[in-house]
Amino acid sequence: MGKRDFLSFSDVSRAECQAILDLALRMKSGGYTDRPLTGQTLALIFAKSSTRTRVSFEVGARQLGADALFLSTNDMQLGRGEPIRDTARVLSRYVNGIMIRTFAQSDVEELARFASIPIINGLTDLLHPCQLLADLLTVLEEFGSLDRRIVAWIGDGNNMANSWIEAAGLFGFELRLACPEGYEPNRDIFEANAKRTRLVMTEDPVEAVAGAHVVNTDVWASMGQESEAEARRQAFMGYCVDDQLLAAASPDAIVLHCLPAHRGEEISEAVLEGPRSRVWNEAENRLHAQKALLATLMGA
Ligand code: CP
Ligand code: NVA
Repeated sequence: MGKRDFLSFSDVSRAECQAILDLALRMKSGGYTDRPLTGQTLALIFAKSSTRTRVSFEVGARQLGADALFLSTNDMQLGRGEPIRDTARVLSRYVNGIMIRTFAQSDVEELARFASIPIINGLTDLLHPCQLLADLLTVLEEFGSLDRRIVAWIGDGNNMANSWIEAAGLFGFELRLACPEGYEPNRDIFEANAKRTRLVMTEDPVEAVAGAHVVNTDVWASMGQESEAEARRQAFMGYCVDDQLLAAASPDAIVLHCLPAHRGEEISEAVLEGPRSRVWNEAENRLHAQKALLATLMGA
């Protein structure tokens, strides 16, 4: 069998993704002491900042027996214009897998095409599939299943929103997105997955949240969009996940945010720190979900 990548949810079947989540739950519960990555090295390439992704991959790789190698593109020849395809072939001779966080999804695809080792997408402008594994795990822990759950996405139609759409298509749950005009998710991803599950697009946050079991948001200006921050603050007025908006959700609704959060912008302090928030558990679940992913893609 050839090498396996995880660039988007297109790389896994529903059964495979469910198996990764089941393994993550087993790892979290302490019922897993294997070290299937013993003797391997995982390279972590970052062209953008990170706290959770870097630490959870480094710690997770070590817990599975591997070494982790942090590489900032600021210090790599990649950052000075060495082609991705050359970097891919060289690193494939040294390490056993690569996680990359960068801007263009096409760069991650090129890395995967030219590398002979598994490539994992640690966030691009288009997608953030590793975060979604952790988010799905958090929903599973809360509700036991994704079946008949309604998920609301409030705010920017960004990388997180696009990955939620892919996850909804894979698992078949209902996803409602409330985004201001001009900030909708990727059209191709939306249309492809609208054929697989119920996706609702609206500009009204209350319509999206009504009866929802999971209410989700993210920053209004993602990494690389810093110069648009003020214009976005204007465009996203009224898209704050606060107690007033949550009043429309299901009584047992939980709130997710991939973090870092901007309190008082996309989420209120009271909601982030309140009883419905699962954000710290969600952050912890990055570790368990990615360990399960690493064991699946790279495990002996
Ligand atoms: N949620 C997330 O990916 O966090 P970091 O940017 O800190 O890795
Ligand atoms: N949408 C955010 C997610 C950060 C984890 C960004 O891309 O900056």
